Amino acid sequence: MKILLVGSGGREHALVWKMAQSPLCDKLYCAPGNAGIADVAECLDIAAEDQDAILKFTQENEIDFVVVGPEQPLVEGLASLLRDHNIKVFGPSKAAAQLEGSKGFMKDFCARHDIPTAAYARFKSLDKAKAYIEEIGAPIVIKTDGLAAGKGVIIAQSVAEAIEAVTDMLSGSTFGDAGTELVIEEYMDGEELSYFALSDGDAFVPLTSAQDHKRVGDGDVGPNTGGMGAYSPAHFMDDALEQKIIDTIIKPTVEGMKQDDMAFQGVLFAGIMVVKGVPKLIEYNIRFGDPECQPIMMRLKSDLVELLMATDTGSLSDYKDKIQWSNEHTLCVVMAANGYPASYEKGTPIKGCEALSEMPSVRLFHAGTMRDNSQTLVNTGGRVLGVVGIGDTVADAQHHAYAGVDKVEWPDGFCRRDIGWRAIKSQKEKAA
Ligand code: AMP
Ligand code: GLY
Repeated sequence: MKILLVGSGGREHALVWKMAQSPLCDKLYCAPGNAGIADVAECLDIAAEDQDAILKFTQENEIDFVVVGPEQPLVEGLASLLRDHNIKVFGPSKAAAQLEGSKGFMKDFCARHDIPTAAYARFKSLDKAKAYIEEIGAPIVIKTDGLAAGKGVIIAQSVAEAIEAVTDMLSGSTFGDAGTELVIEEYMDGEELSYFALSDGDAFVPLTSAQDHKRVGDGDVGPNTGGMGAYSPAHFMDDALEQKIIDTIIKPTVEGMKQDDMAFQGVLFAGIMVVKGVPKLIEYNIRFGDPECQPIMMRLKSDLVELLMATDTGSLSDYKDKIQWSNEHTLCVVMAANGYPASYEKGTPIKGCEALSEMPSVRLFHAGTMRDNSQTLVNTGGRVLGVVGIGDTVADAQHHAYAGVDKVEWPDGFCRRDIGWRAIKSQKEKAA
């Protein structure tokens, strides 16, 4: 098979690495890819958002299967376009992608299908939003309706802060059109985890869990980022909790989308808050998480191409209870450019990466990287490298990941030094 992957991040490097192991895979292309992906796939000068160019390349080169990594092209309808042209694709239709593309859509969907989530209301008017905030009080959560690259959520600790946030968002000054409609919702206090399942529109198969670290600083402080690290599985996951997540969130979502004539084909990534043992949906994403995908792919033993294909062809039920996972723990540390998530320099040289390929319990995934004219590896983005460690315990995985990080020579980059701290703390408490 000839496979085209769309995207350029660490998630995509992990997907391409895993797909390359499949006997079904003869040739891999990536639009546009990065320096790490270029070692496995032929990188194309086509942007992930350029639907026309992707369709044209796919048709002219007789691509058998297209895998879409990021949310933006899916929300803009790339999978629908390709399916309309009888091209097999991993990723939901434009209608189904609204689960991530519109918070208001997702909240109304949950209400219709009885899926547990925070109490909420939708607003376009500043006066009504202010009145609602004053009625509910703080803490309270304000979200832009549209995609805002993970930054459209404000957890306001006071009524004044909440009112300032809605005033700012509805004026369109911070988030443009994505912020002209808002969801305001109840603050949920609990432990957070991410859960992943594949769906072919009819059948679904559970994958596994992960946890990420969204804040930029050690101890989970500072501004939100796309994700500074992640590990799999989540430390407080057990069979009973997993079953509750499947029964109360995943199953009704797949059934509800089918009932609503928007059958969901692809990966459902549920952000979940476990409140006193009860899992509640924070948000849906309609693609793999980045960086969650990197540790998850390191644990997957089954053929990824077969699984992703089955979401398009409707044969996912063949894989029920058959997906194999390593029992080991995996943990990814993200290395980012100094200054991220605010402004940072591009084009700074990164050395030492070769050493990581000699380390059996470490794997390096590239995100915002390229090779310059002299073949030096340089950064092109804020999140630049993901170093994954694998081990019998999450502490071992962390140890290996940081041993890898310490080989990278990049004075213009930084990483958090405490990825996995909650899991390691709880492991120590259990052992004591
Ligand atoms: P999101 O961009 O929707 O993933 O939200 C970013 C983060 O905000 C989540 O990972 C949660 O930690 C937090 N969050 C979102 N909604 C709520 C809520 N209703 N209650 C508490 N925390 C929330
Ligand atoms: N790491 C969070 C996300 O991919 O949305």
